[in-house]
Amino acid sequence: MTPPIQKILIPRDRLETRINELAQEISRNYPGEELVLVSILKGSVVFLTALMKELDLDVEIGFLYLSSYQGETLPQSEVRHYIIPFPDIENRHVLLIEDIFDTGASLAYAWDLCKKKNPRSLKTCVLLLKEGIERPQSIPLPPIDYCGFTVPNEYVVGFGLDYKEKYRQLPCIAVPVLD
Ligand code: IMP
Ligand code: MG
Repeated sequence: MTPPIQKILIPRDRLETRINELAQEISRNYPGEELVLVSILKGSVVFLTALMKELDLDVEIGFLYLSSYQGETLPQSEVRHYIIPFPDIENRHVLLIEDIFDTGASLAYAWDLCKKKNPRSLKTCVLLLKEGIERPQSIPLPPIDYCGFTVPNEYVVGFGLDYKEKYRQLPCIAVPVLD
């Protein structure tokens, strides 16, 4: 059963076309090099698999599971991480893959974590960038080197992004019916 959606923001064919463009650009920027793609779980997995299939490069993949807390004992912005089999990235080209750049706290955390492991280069690739967000001044945000689309400041789902763990399998980006 498909969960209910209000509207489709980015249809499947536009996602495919743009991801192909990004893959071509990335492939051109690492000629003859190997690239480690570090995917931030769980949301970026669908984007990762779509992108990597179009890359004309040798790639290795790694995963990072981040979770944000808004509990009573931890500050709102605190992010925790869990490392699942993670490649040795020292002296290698690394591209961080993220589904959506909202406040940027998750990507900033992943960026710092990777930076400490002394990669040869570190870049970021986000499928969606939310517009009209007040981003915290307290944390330095990493640059976005590759961006698929900008989206309005609405809660979006699909192509890996969830609402209460649903909708990840949608082949488009949509605004869900929130309850
Ligand atoms: P951040 O605020 O940039 O750190 O975003 C944290 C994470 O929240 C993202 O990686 C997404 O997994 C999730 N997220 C942020 N905005 C949305 C949204 O509009 N829909 C679904 N997930 C979102
Ligand atoms: Mg995410």
